[in-house]
Amino acid sequence: MRKGRLANKVVIITGAASGIGKGTAILFAEEGANLILVDRDMEKLEGTAEEIRLKGGDCRTVCGDVSLTRTAAEVVETAVREFGGLDVVFNNAGIMPTADILGCTEETWDQVIDVNLKSMFLMCKQAIPEMLKRGGGSIINTSSVMAHLTEPGYTAYTASKAGILGLTKEIAVTYAEKGIRCNSISPGWVDTDMNMKLAEEMGGMDKLYPVIKAQQPLGRMATSREIAYGVLFLASDESVVVTGSCLNIDGGCTAAI
Ligand SMILES: NC(=O)c1ccc[n+]([C@@H]2O[C@H](COP(=O)([O-])OP(=O)(O)OC[C@H]3O[C@@H](n4cnc5c(N)ncnc54)[C@H](O)[C@@H]3O)[C@@H](O)[C@H]2O)c1
Repeated sequence: MRKGRLANKVVIITGAASGIGKGTAILFAEEGANLILVDRDMEKLEGTAEEIRLKGGDCRTVCGDVSLTRTAAEVVETAVREFGGLDVVFNNAGIMPTADILGCTEETWDQVIDVNLKSMFLMCKQAIPEMLKRGGGSIINTSSVMAHLTEPGYTAYTASKAGILGLTKEIAVTYAEKGIRCNSISPGWVDTDMNMKLAEEMGGMDKLYPVIKAQQPLGRMATSREIAYGVLFLASDESVVVTGSCLNIDGGCTAAI
């Protein structure tokens, strides 16, 4: 028997090759979870898996695009085949192209909605029947402070992240009595590849950091592990009466004017 706050729970994590997904995968492995790690970047995903196995953790990997039904189906099938069922889904993979409404092409809009929002709908459709067989489960969806407060230039991203809040609440109220909880997290600025890319687009971290300091009262970016502790609470039985909520893990971003 494994030990920890997620001992023997079977957990799917998407976007596990990098950033918040990787940090959460490592923390969850330390807390005794059996993991199915999902990403489109196989090489980096195997890097996460290797770190977990070196620490004695148990995980499987699935390489695929989360915006496709066949990926969601393969992921849930893997959980059932390899570990006998499913307890937790962390829908976390996402992309953040920058463009305002006139600059955002229809193709970019569709891609962002598909990867950030539709992927969660598809994964939940596959996962919920398996959770019902176990008498319950916990779903955590990664939204963003940008679902609550935004700035020019993030049309599709903001819309996708706000949509996640609605989807989360609808699943929560539909399945509350059946033991399935569904919550979202809204991270603020986090030190991941996503923001390294943004810094590059802006001409370097020297340009991005003043924005972060102005928007996030904490005065720095969070680490992926600091975000993962919030996800751990929502995944574990400690949060048994928390459903339909959004946990802002944002260094004070959404409290500030
Ligand atoms: N970094 C931040 O400041 C921040 C803030 C708020 C919310 N978020 C959200 O957190 C989540 C994780 O982002 P991150 O910062 O760790 O970024 P990241 O770029 O480090 O990680 C995202 C991962 O998702 C994977 N991915 C992207 N599209 C995919 C697809 N179609 N299929 C499968 N995998 C795919 C990428 O390969 C990558 O490994 C995203 O949903 C993002 O919107 C990030």
